[in-house]
Amino acid sequence: MMKKKLCFPDWIPLLLLCHLQLPTLVCSKHHGNPANDLVEIINQNRTAQKLERLNDSPGLGCMALQYVELCKGNCSGNSAVNCKPPTDDFTEVFAPNCGVELPTIGTITGHIVGCQSKYTEPSLAFANVLVKDNKSLSVLRNKSHNEVGVGLIGFHEGPFFWCVLFSNGGTNSSFVLEDRGEGIKQNKGCYSGSAFPCNAGHKSAMLFNYIITFSYLFVSLLNQI
Ligand SMILES: *[C@@H]1O[C@H](CO)[C@@H](O)[C@H](O)[C@H]1NC(C)=O
Ligand SMILES: *[C@@H]1O[C@H](CO)[C@@H](O)[C@H](O)[C@H]1NC(C)=O
Ligand SMILES: *[C@@H]1O[C@H](CO)[C@@H](O)[C@H](O)[C@H]1NC(C)=O
Ligand SMILES: *[C@@H]1O[C@H](CO)[C@@H](O)[C@H](O)[C@H]1NC(C)=O
Ligand SMILES: *[C@@H]1O[C@H](CO)[C@@H](O)[C@H](O)[C@H]1NC(C)=O
Repeated sequence: MMKKKLCFPDWIPLLLLCHLQLPTLVCSKHHGNPANDLVEIINQNRTAQKLERLNDSPGLGCMALQYVELCKGNCSGNSAVNCKPPTDDFTEVFAPNCGVELPTIGTITGHIVGCQSKYTEPSLAFANVLVKDNKSLSVLRNKSHNEVGVGLIGFHEGPFFWCVLFSNGGTNSSFVLEDRGEGIKQNKGCYSGSAFPCNAGHKSAMLFNYIITFSYLFVSLLNQI
């Protein structure tokens, strides 16, 4: 009896989080990581065309996050990102920031980048921001890819960026993250396959959310006893 009473539907704090500011990022099917949702959407779109599923590479995902971090000032109208990071940045900046082991850096076989004024759920970002013309659709459906990584980041009062990187590297042998695949924790944004939860980058807002949620949980438990 007691056990049942204490059993508290875990969607309640989640719902609460969703009503508060940050959480656009928390309202995701895959443990609060919309980057993982986008990878799934990409794979569904490919398999519907009888193309192979792509392996979700956390190392590549973190590189995608670095890419949009660098392009944060370059959101032009119509969801296009006017930005070309120097190729050397991949090895000299992105990889060290992520903890990608240098010898395992593979070839990027395609990328899709987009931005919008605010966060929208992954399926809408896919259709309205990232894959809305034939050019990006043909990048998505290119047969050279073996793996994919997605990074996303929002800036305070600023635009929200998504980046998808594709590579032809071998599963588990390219873009390998050090520390047994954990890599270096990122201060802001999130990426697919990450060992860490998304980080909205506003520590005080985060703390506020936790306090509200746990108070709610506590009060609800008291009510049920
Ligand atoms: C961002 O845009 C500015 C101005 O158009 C340009 O000079 C700069 O090279 C762009 N950044 C990147 C990384 O492409
Ligand atoms: C697929 O990607 C490869 C590597 O980026 C590129 O060389 C090739 O032209 C692309 N193929 C198509 C059909 O776009
Ligand atoms: C794949 O994505 C394209 C571009 O957004 C869309 O037009 C198409 O309907 C999608 N296909 C499937 C099977 O979802
Ligand atoms: C995109 O490709 C489809 C099928 O190949 C074609 O019917 C359509 O006209 C193309 N759209 C544009 C804007 O080029
Ligand atoms: C890649 O690594 C995962 C986890 O270690 C493992 O389950 C999977 O079988 C590996 N895949 C390949 C192709 O080696």
